[in-house]
Amino acid sequence: MSEPIRDALGRPLESLRISVTDRCNLRCRYCMPEDEYVWLPRASILAFEEIARLVGVFAGVGVHKVRLTGGEPLLRHDLPTLVAMIARDARITDLAMTTNGLLLAKQATALRAAGLSRVTVSLDTLRPERMLAFAKSPRHADVLEGIAAARQVGFGRLKLNSVVIRGFNDDELVDLIEFGRAHDAEVRFIEYMDVGGATRWSMDQGVSQRDMLETLGRRYGAIQPLSDDSHSPAERFRLPDGTTFGIIASTTAPFCRSCDRSRVTADGTWLLCLYAERGTDLRDPLRRGATDDELAAILREGWQGRRDRGAEDRLGVAERGALYRLESLRADPHREMHTRGG
Ligand code: GTP
Ligand code: 5AD
Ligand code: SF4
Repeated sequence: MSEPIRDALGRPLESLRISVTDRCNLRCRYCMPEDEYVWLPRASILAFEEIARLVGVFAGVGVHKVRLTGGEPLLRHDLPTLVAMIARDARITDLAMTTNGLLLAKQATALRAAGLSRVTVSLDTLRPERMLAFAKSPRHADVLEGIAAARQVGFGRLKLNSVVIRGFNDDELVDLIEFGRAHDAEVRFIEYMDVGGATRWSMDQGVSQRDMLETLGRRYGAIQPLSDDSHSPAERFRLPDGTTFGIIASTTAPFCRSCDRSRVTADGTWLLCLYAERGTDLRDPLRRGATDDELAAILREGWQGRRDRGAEDRLGVAERGALYRLESLRADPHREMHTRGG
């Protein structure tokens, strides 16, 4: 395995999130609350061969973890073919996907057979009527079917993501833990983040890691933090009965110091940080015939100059509100969370 390149703060480049489409079949309030969006032009969307080629170049500079995201990645036609192309690269030792689960039941077998190792499914509520109001979809049952299918086909440890919002699902923490336990899945509670696209964000709608632990402690008793030296954003905990869960506290306790990830949007824009204002266009050199070495040089130079600590910078903002106004998102949809892949 190649020694990963390091950024200006000494952080290695080890993980890559690839958004395969900016489209989504849900409209979650914390990510896509608007009625209309500006989409990436069709001709700019990378072909599978182009994505696989980029993954190879990233692997050459040290990346060994790849996560497919969207929008909703399963809206990309024939995704198992891309999974197979990436899985063929022995340098990629962990190939995962984050999905909203709606289309997972239909595709789980093919994805597993193609070499996908893990999936994370977003599950914010166990109540269909809440999903209808919150994500504008009546398809809660499809998500549950997707979760069941993921277990059946034998992916590695299943994770469930729940963004916790005050007044929406903050009364479901215990129910979600119980659901996770019953379905052999690890629940991760996520603090509501002021990312691009979360145009209705305000601090008071968020529930902090501290408050979540207090609520769960009241119900379950002493909660033990688990030491974890990975670069994963979640801090993990154990309940007295052994059940584990995670909290991703990007809003109140960001993990920028150990952030080893970068992301590529569906049109080949490379972002050094979830909060980065702009990215580097990799599509243009790719389509102009750049060699792998030339592409690797772009990655090396970009990563070595990286000082981004977006979530930590947000801690210092006095009157914290939405990161971008609507006009700014429309002017450059790369700023949207659904374009940069969560
Ligand atoms: P693992 O490799 O399994 O740990 O994956 P993951 O937890 O990184 O992936 P997932 O797509 O499930 O992301 C979980 C949550 O972490 C998402 O809600 C994101 O909002 C948040 N998150 C993901 N990447 C970043 C990041 O680069 N910076 C910050 N601040 N938050 C992130
Ligand atoms: N705050 C926290 N998490 C978010 N996600 C999307 N938008 C936000 C936000 N504003 C999460 C989704 C999904 C992951 C990829 O990103 O719930 O689990
Ligand atoms: Fe990494 Fe930026 Fe997220 Fe911090 S905010 S963890 S630097 S991507």
